[in-house]
Amino acid sequence: MDFVRIFGRTGAVHIDIGTGKAAFLLNEARAHPHVNFLGIERARRYYRYAVDRIGRWGLKNVRIIRTDAVYFLTDFVPDDSVDCFHIYFPDPWPKKRHQKRRFFSPANLEHLLRALKGGGQLKIATDHAEYFEQIRKLIAEENDRLAETEFLPTAGAEVGEWVGTNFERKYLKQNIQIYTLAVRKT
Ligand SMILES: C[S@@+](CC[C@H](N)C(=O)[O-])C[C@H]1O[C@@H](n2cnc3c(N)ncnc32)[C@H](O)[C@@H]1O
Repeated sequence: MDFVRIFGRTGAVHIDIGTGKAAFLLNEARAHPHVNFLGIERARRYYRYAVDRIGRWGLKNVRIIRTDAVYFLTDFVPDDSVDCFHIYFPDPWPKKRHQKRRFFSPANLEHLLRALKGGGQLKIATDHAEYFEQIRKLIAEENDRLAETEFLPTAGAEVGEWVGTNFERKYLKQNIQIYTLAVRKT
């Protein structure tokens, strides 16, 4: 994956894993026109919805790809090429027998680290306390390579929100706690 070719220019690259209906991606891209944003979404209906919205918003700094994020990250994202990964409300797979499907694993974290530029960020939000603890532990094991940093709300976040995605809004309406974490590659 040659990001300069994909975006037709150089510039910072942010990747949104599991874009959903793309509220974060669109608002963030509109607020930061000099940054190149790539969304990765596996589900066809969300992908189509996002493509349609990107077109209607007339954004030139956003691309979206319909694929599996693990496959894409592992085989296509070059080393030291990404300024920020946004991973908001990754599927928690709450049943014990399904937990191996979770995105956060030692192998995937290694790929995120490999792909991040020095100083690049990994931003995570979830409503799932147990999954959040698992993520925190995984990240804590990399404390020689990752340092916690302040989680700044995104451009589309309204008062009381962190990321302004559809899932965050759904959970906030139900008074469900949201957990966030931001780390920087040292
Ligand atoms: C719970 S939703 C969150 C969507 C959005 N980030 C939000 O906060 O509203 C998780 C999204 O990730 C997508 N997804 C899950 N696993 C994926 C994978 N391995 N590759 C790409 N997309 C994935 C799902 O299709 C779904 O749209």
